[in-house]
Amino acid sequence: MSNKLKIGLFGFGCVGSGLYEVLNQSNLLNASIEKIVVKDRDKHRSLAKDRFSFEKETVLDDSAINLVVELIDDAEAAFEIVTEAFRRGKNVVSANKKLIAEHLDELLALSEECGVSFLYEAAVCGSIPVIRNLEEYYNNDSLASIKGICNGTSNYVLTRLNNELKSFDEVLADAQAIGFAESDPTLDIDGFDSKYKLQILLLHTFGLKTVPQNVLNIGVRHVKAEDILFAKEKGLRLKLISYAKKVEDEIVAFAAPMFVKDDSFAFEVNNEFNAVEIEGLFADKQVFVGKGAGSFPTASAVLSDVSALQYNYKYEYRKLGSNSSSLADDFVFKVFVSSKNAESLSLINFIQVEEEFSSSNYSYKVGLIKSSSINYELYRNQPDLFIAAFEDAEIELIKKEKQQVESLEV
Ligand SMILES: NC(=O)c1ccc[n+]([C@@H]2O[C@H](COP(=O)([O-])OP(=O)(O)OC[C@H]3O[C@@H](n4cnc5c(N)ncnc54)[C@H](OP(=O)(O)O)[C@@H]3O)[C@@H](O)[C@H]2O)c1
Repeated sequence: MSNKLKIGLFGFGCVGSGLYEVLNQSNLLNASIEKIVVKDRDKHRSLAKDRFSFEKETVLDDSAINLVVELIDDAEAAFEIVTEAFRRGKNVVSANKKLIAEHLDELLALSEECGVSFLYEAAVCGSIPVIRNLEEYYNNDSLASIKGICNGTSNYVLTRLNNELKSFDEVLADAQAIGFAESDPTLDIDGFDSKYKLQILLLHTFGLKTVPQNVLNIGVRHVKAEDILFAKEKGLRLKLISYAKKVEDEIVAFAAPMFVKDDSFAFEVNNEFNAVEIEGLFADKQVFVGKGAGSFPTASAVLSDVSALQYNYKYEYRKLGSNSSSLADDFVFKVFVSSKNAESLSLINFIQVEEEFSSSNYSYKVGLIKSSSINYELYRNQPDLFIAAFEDAEIELIKKEKQQVESLEV
């Protein structure tokens, strides 16, 4: 028997209004939106004014509401709403990756303590059903890696740069004008959004709980036309990748631009599309491609969680505790670093340089570095410095070179 779901919806923006529509069009669900809470009292809405309220208590105090769907754009306010809903015994569905990545431990512990379900399929790659697959289908396979194009905004910008060789600022302004990028694009183009999603993937792929400070993110803000030409000359493309790979008994994880070859899962994933490649020990590589954002695609993932709750579905986190792998805090990988000013390259400590080029207005180096020698602040404070990894070389070189470097250091 399915449960009748009485929903208290927080947020009626892009995803919230999309959910309202798709729920109305789906006659398979035994669910109804009882109350909607938003923030701005003066905003014009597509529904009658009396459908909305502005105080979270309207939903939280209503004992008839058994499901809170949290679709707001404020991670701190969301934390208050979600934790209070748990305490009141209400199940929660959310699409808020920032909330989840920043409060992973507390949210898991509290939902467990309160005996409620907390589902968030839409938080990673919108419509692509990756979390539930990791939880259920890949539950018994030992996973070797997970890689994703998880941010549609940066993928759209990189695709346009690859096709048109315009300046980054010009393409970003276009993306903002057509609604593919926020007015403050920091979370998307500086790799934070990709990192938050990676943290959720790490939990469900490897049973690894992380905090944002421990996972490296660098972004695409400093990419130059010359960097795109470098890629083209070598038959590569630049993609912002959320990357995690098991190396010996550690997990190497970061969100960064990567040069990918034409046989990569990421090469032909363009514009606002997302993709995830999961590599299992037995299943080998499998790729999911789809829309990672947008009103209806994201709402479809929320709807799927709502539907699962009709049958009391919960994530079981079976990989938590059964997995002894820890996050690698330092590793060696191959990077490309470029700058308009050759002197800026000296900020990066290369263990070994494989290739270099220098002219009066553009220089680059390709070689091996330790991950601990770069960080977000270095990237962000040097507006001229573009740093990217290499998908395949990185996979091979971490293990081999790590051992070599350690033996050199003894
Ligand atoms: N957009 C996407 O494609 C997409 C994809 C995947 C995940 N997500 C995630 O989904 C969530 C919602 O994103 P969105 O794009 O729908 O955002 P949005 O269009 O900016 O809408 C945000 C909504 O949240 C409401 N809100 C903000 N603070 C609130 C508060 N304290 N209490 C009640 N309501 C509040 C706003 O109210 P007002 O209407 O009164 O301003 C608005 O209705 C975010 O966590 C986002 O990261 C979005």
